[in-house]
Amino acid sequence: MTLPGAPFVARRGDALELDGHDLAELGRRHGTPLFVYSARAMRSALAAYVEALQGREHLVCYAMKANSSLAVLQLFARAGCGFDIVSGGELERVLAAGGTASKVVFSGVGKTRAEMARALRAGVRCFNVESEDELETLNEVALALALRAPVSLRVNPDVDARTHPYISTGLKDNKFGIAHARALAAYRRAATLPGLRVVGIDCHIGSQITQVGPYVEALDRLLDLVEAVELEGIPLHHVDVGGGLGITYADEEPPPAGTLVRALLQRLDERGHGARELLFEPGRSLVGNAGVLVTEVLVLKPGAEHGGRDYCIVDAAMNDLVRPAMYEAWMAIEPCRRRADATRRWDIVGPVCESGDWLGRERELALRRGDLLAVLSAGAYGMSMSSNYNSRPRAAEVMVDGERAELIREREALPELYARERLLDT
Ligand code: LLP
Repeated sequence: MTLPGAPFVARRGDALELDGHDLAELGRRHGTPLFVYSARAMRSALAAYVEALQGREHLVCYAMKANSSLAVLQLFARAGCGFDIVSGGELERVLAAGGTASKVVFSGVGKTRAEMARALRAGVRCFNVESEDELETLNEVALALALRAPVSLRVNPDVDARTHPYISTGLKDNKFGIAHARALAAYRRAATLPGLRVVGIDCHIGSQITQVGPYVEALDRLLDLVEAVELEGIPLHHVDVGGGLGITYADEEPPPAGTLVRALLQRLDERGHGARELLFEPGRSLVGNAGVLVTEVLVLKPGAEHGGRDYCIVDAAMNDLVRPAMYEAWMAIEPCRRRADATRRWDIVGPVCESGDWLGRERELALRRGDLLAVLSAGAYGMSMSSNYNSRPRAAEVMVDGERAELIREREALPELYARERLLDT
């Protein structure tokens, strides 16, 4: 039986499996907290975009902030993906994983000169420029290197993505992108700067978007600009619609990627832009449902009888998976071995010294100390947002693929946490 939203997670008897691999066994073998990913789930999520784009000029640039572990990047690079990056660190990871700079788009509201120079030398496909100031800086950096920077302007289309305010990025009072009303002037300016070469237009309106409507609205706003910019003799090769398609955590019903792609292609056709290259920057929808976080129950502290709450303290915490603490995100939690015992409504919390350190609240579960639990849909914005808060080492990661289960990241060793620190001399 597969579980809602996580088609590669299934129950076989009482055991919980990810693509046929027993999660309790993996947790015992590698220790916890442990992220486990399914390579097949990632490939199939990518295929949903690529298949719908067949016959069209396109590039899917995996937004690697969702999960930037090298083996994950390697998998997508091998599948022909490009990458959407937002820092020099992400560029180094792409290159270390065997990705190609010529398929990299470089987004981000605040790029340093050093990051720009490195990306220019590496030969990234384009800079998604987010302000008029950035155009000037990039021009200077490129001229100093005797190079021309390919640029696409990230336009803020002022479209409501209808998602959590922290992850909504395309409204006019968000910090991202160049205001739609300023964009034409910015393109005019870009076209006059000798260190720049205008190649496209892009936007990103938010994340965990569960409807097609806001995307089509944003595309329309972009196409209005494309037409205005090209009337001035500035050709735009590609249109990049950003990322953001949501996944199922609880009962969300986002459209399949193919539906989104087809709706956008249809809009391009209707407006006579069918030949234009279409770029996507999906993150969460490529990796989110492909991963789980396995954690062990350390302590059970039932308190409901005394007017308190029933606490289940596990060995994973907000430093491993911050989404519940940061966005009050609901993520499914399943026992790796189902028990027939009586259930309670447990608050599943971590050992970190913050009341905001929780993974799930009021979950009806039968638990014993030492049991393993899996937080589902943890493949996106889990490991990549992890920290060492409370001097907790970062978790290990395993990738399963067919029969194989490979360790792709060792658990951090404690001395690594302070290896770069120095004691005072005096
Ligand atoms: N492109 C740009 C420029 C972005 O800023 C983002 C995500 C993406 C693409 C990918 O969006 P996706 O397909 O993953 O929705 N930490 C939050 C999500 C933050 C998203 C930020 N930008 C979370 O855990 O919900």
